[in-house]
Amino acid sequence: MQILLTGGAGYIGSHTIIELDKAGHTVVVVDNLCNSKEEALRRVEKIIGKPVPFVRADVRDREAMDHIFKTYTIDAVIHFAGLKAVGESCEKPLEYYENNMNATFVLLDVMRRNGCKNIIFSSSATVYGDPAQIPITEECPKGHCTNPYGQTKSMLEEVLKDVQKADPEWNVVLLRYFNPIGAHKSGLIGENPNGIPNNLMPYITQTAIGIRKELGVFGNDYDTPDGTGVRDYIHVCDLAAGHVAALKAIEKKCGLAIYNLGTGHGYSVLDVVNAFERENGLKVPYSIKPRRPGDIATCYCNPAKAKAELGWQAQYEIGDMCRDSWNFQKNNPKGYEE
Ligand code: NAD
Ligand code: UFG
Repeated sequence: MQILLTGGAGYIGSHTIIELDKAGHTVVVVDNLCNSKEEALRRVEKIIGKPVPFVRADVRDREAMDHIFKTYTIDAVIHFAGLKAVGESCEKPLEYYENNMNATFVLLDVMRRNGCKNIIFSSSATVYGDPAQIPITEECPKGHCTNPYGQTKSMLEEVLKDVQKADPEWNVVLLRYFNPIGAHKSGLIGENPNGIPNNLMPYITQTAIGIRKELGVFGNDYDTPDGTGVRDYIHVCDLAAGHVAALKAIEKKCGLAIYNLGTGHGYSVLDVVNAFERENGLKVPYSIKPRRPGDIATCYCNPAKAKAELGWQAQYEIGDMCRDSWNFQKNNPKGYEE
């Protein structure tokens, strides 16, 4: 199939191009580069050994999007484009709602006008809020999202469900990602956050390389085995492969389908620090800080549905994730340089 990746120059999108290519699909990328660099695509080209068609445009730009659909025969869209920083979304709610919602409205409208009704949407474990049950299955009710970013994911899931309900020709796959970390084993592409990282793994790698003095561990008084927050970390290459599996559901005309993409294992913040130190033979200085507002104690999934229906299962372990995250950081101490 020919797949349009919105936000395909970003962290998850760039890794997904490689998995799509391996599976024999062709891609087109649209990205406005508001949180990424074109260099990521140059590096993907190096890895796959072929050019990646790229259109620099905003998904909210109806004309530009229409032009893409008129130029290429797009069979399905993987919709990664969106703003994703939880803290920033609390400071700039309007920008987050405006970007994430409008980009999706424009995209869906342009898709249907051009007769493409197959979409995979990047959702998030955040839609479960403080989860009603652990491990989290897809049947677990959605919860209260404590930030505008999470709200956009939850609201857009409902929009996509309604669109599919009104017109059953649509095939909509909602992928609820748990916590992606790691990088492609080449060390050429990886996570390249702007400014001070919000997420745990880039903070760890930047501390290990000396850009940050020490890691702050946000709370050690949660009801977890060591008191620190527990999450379901998944290697970004496994997550990328999950999109290829989801395309098979689309080919089988799945209608609406929802999948958790995680490993099913929960690791605490200190488990991750220990695994990182052990795997890479490094020390990561840290100190305990107060809890971060909006954080929950424990979040990990039951990934059985994706295994049963898509034949997809995570392959990599926490040690692999720590090794590959470090490999990217050490090869790219300043991220992507153009
Ligand atoms: P990312 O920021 O690296 O990639 C998103 C890309 O979208 C960026 O390249 C950015 O430039 C682009 N973009 C944003 N708004 C755009 C617009 N209006 N038009 C065109 N391009 C636009 O983020 P990522 O980690 O690769 O995440 C991809 C998707 O997965 C996002 O929707 C994110 O919310 C979701 N997600 C990410 C995580 C995570 O922890 N990384 C977890 C759950 C869900
Ligand atoms: N943490 C620290 N110190 C840091 C950063 C994080 O102790 O400097 C802790 C957090 O308190 C949490 C854990 O590490 O317990 C993971 O935090 P992240 O910020 O890496 O990830 P979150 O689980 O908070 O959220 C991430 C994405 C969301 C997404 C969610 C899906 O940021 O967008 O995963 O599970 F929705």
